[in-house]
Amino acid sequence: MFSRVVRPTVITARNFSTTKQNNYKVAVCGAAGGIGQPLSLLLKINPLVSELSLYDIVHTPGVAADLSHIETIAKVQGFNGAESLRDALKNADVIIIPAGVPRKPGMTRDDLFNMNAGIVKTLAQAAAEVAPKALIGIITNPVNSAVPIACEVLKKAGKLDPKRVFGVSTLDVVRANTFVAEAKGLNPKDVNVPVIGGHSGITIIPLLSRVTPNVSFPGKAAGAHGQDPGRRHRG
Ligand SMILES: NC(=O)c1ccc[n+]([C@@H]2O[C@H](COP(=O)([O-])OP(=O)(O)OC[C@H]3O[C@@H](n4cnc5c(N)ncnc54)[C@H](O)[C@@H]3O)[C@@H](O)[C@H]2O)c1
Repeated sequence: MFSRVVRPTVITARNFSTTKQNNYKVAVCGAAGGIGQPLSLLLKINPLVSELSLYDIVHTPGVAADLSHIETIAKVQGFNGAESLRDALKNADVIIIPAGVPRKPGMTRDDLFNMNAGIVKTLAQAAAEVAPKALIGIITNPVNSAVPIACEVLKKAGKLDPKRVFGVSTLDVVRANTFVAEAKGLNPKDVNVPVIGGHSGITIIPLLSRVTPNVSFPGKAAGAHGQDPGRRHRG
């Protein structure tokens, strides 16, 4: 997602459905956080977005007020607290979820799962009720578990369309592009590393044999299958 917005050449209607253009309602859940705020800024400057709904349990009135001053067409509204969740998501075309807590020193993945699973469950329940056709992108970690949770909630509500629920792992793609460019002395803009799999540890699989332009890493390749390119980073 980040790369789509940052690189203007790939902002095209092909990123969304072709039935409706430049008129998308996008809701961000967790909009006041470290990911949510810059993400909301990028969405505010995206010409495809006409309505931007910023939901969080804290600070959204201020974040929404600040972003609303940017001179683009997207109308920004802030929603604060659980009682406003359904209003925030109502009829959204796209719902992006970076709500939750990031991993801190001393926390296990299980700790993170226990906290964030409930948050994703609540958000997915509301989405099923008021925006059942929305594309749902889940940034909240652990992504590999958060996506199945959302799917199960949608399935229970009879609203699951597997083609509409995504785990957001663009971070792995941009990191792979950057690291390969650094290793090979290339301009990162010209590098495309396909990354498949999930978003944790060995489930992140950069396909180094499919990089454009063609590159090779003789011997044991750093960052290849089995390595975690995000190991030393947040996310
Ligand atoms: N998929 C990825 O590539 C990727 C990258 C970075 C971070 N992450 C994950 O994204 C999540 C957010 O990271 P961050 O750095 O923005 O954390 P953060 O703590 O800065 O922000 C999280 C936000 O979620 C909000 N929140 C908490 N409970 C909520 C609820 N019930 N409803 C709505 N909002 C709620 C908080 O108020 C906060 O504003 C973490 O789980 C992190 O691990 C994923």
